[in-house]
Amino acid sequence: MSSTARYAVFGHPVAHSLSPFIHAEFGRQVGIALRYDAIEATIDGFAAALERFAAEGGVGANITLPHKEAAFALCRERSERALRAGAANTLTLIEGGWRGDNTDGAGLVRDITERHRLDLRGRRALMLGAGGAARGVAPALLDAGLEELVIVNRSPERADALVDTLGDPGRAKSRYWADLGELGDFELVVNATSAGRSARSLDLPFSLVSPRCLAVDLSYGEAAIAFTAWARAAGCPHVIDGLGMLVEQAALAFEQWHGKRVETEPVYQALKARAAGLHTGD
Ligand code: ATR
Repeated sequence: MSSTARYAVFGHPVAHSLSPFIHAEFGRQVGIALRYDAIEATIDGFAAALERFAAEGGVGANITLPHKEAAFALCRERSERALRAGAANTLTLIEGGWRGDNTDGAGLVRDITERHRLDLRGRRALMLGAGGAARGVAPALLDAGLEELVIVNRSPERADALVDTLGDPGRAKSRYWADLGELGDFELVVNATSAGRSARSLDLPFSLVSPRCLAVDLSYGEAAIAFTAWARAAGCPHVIDGLGMLVEQAALAFEQWHGKRVETEPVYQALKARAAGLHTGD
């Protein structure tokens, strides 16, 4: 791939995206000089911004909130996992348009099983939320061998819709948020709600947490503080936020675009150190 090819992340807001840093680090690691920008696009302006990007040499794009469904809709081709998620986070220019993929779910599974060395097989899991983030990761979690995936959403019809899409009624089922106290305990609890992004905390019972529970917040930074604090207070032995997933989904996109595998650990550690510095005011 030519070094003048352009890459970018599209979002709204996007100014604080870590993707430009992550891709620059990966590029440095494998000796590829690449241009990777953060492009701010409103919901109405997204399609035009993407078209402009392609006209100016754009060949690969990461898509973040709130454009993943819109990106999926305008693709000419879609990978199997993008189809299952109904959303795309990675676009690659092909003849006559874009090919859409979704690396979020595989990124999450890679973070859990490879970085944190935790096995997902046989776990009873609870997913809080049924929006875009939940849809992006639920298929990959099922593929990783969960025994059961209970989906609970504030508005129950969205949980039902996600369960229908997953098409695995033996393992994926919906329950009411109001019944959280009666669902027993879980070995995996995933927070896929956006509550933390608006500084809201969820009122969750400690009874959800089993002694070997892994709690995962798909958000990172400030947005993940309330849920991860709840999980620790509930006695969860493994608590992780979405920073590792972010790095892994980026690596999967990078590998598609550049055909080279990268080491994610140094980049993950650099971001963790940076986040710790921010929290202590360094
Ligand atoms: P994302 O792409 O981050 O998933 P989304 O598609 O808007 O964003 O979905 C947000 C999710 O967080 C939804 O599951 C939403 O519940 P509703 O479908 O009932 O709106 C959930 N959510 C947001 N704020 C919440 C809160 N305060 N309590 C519980 N769930 C919340």
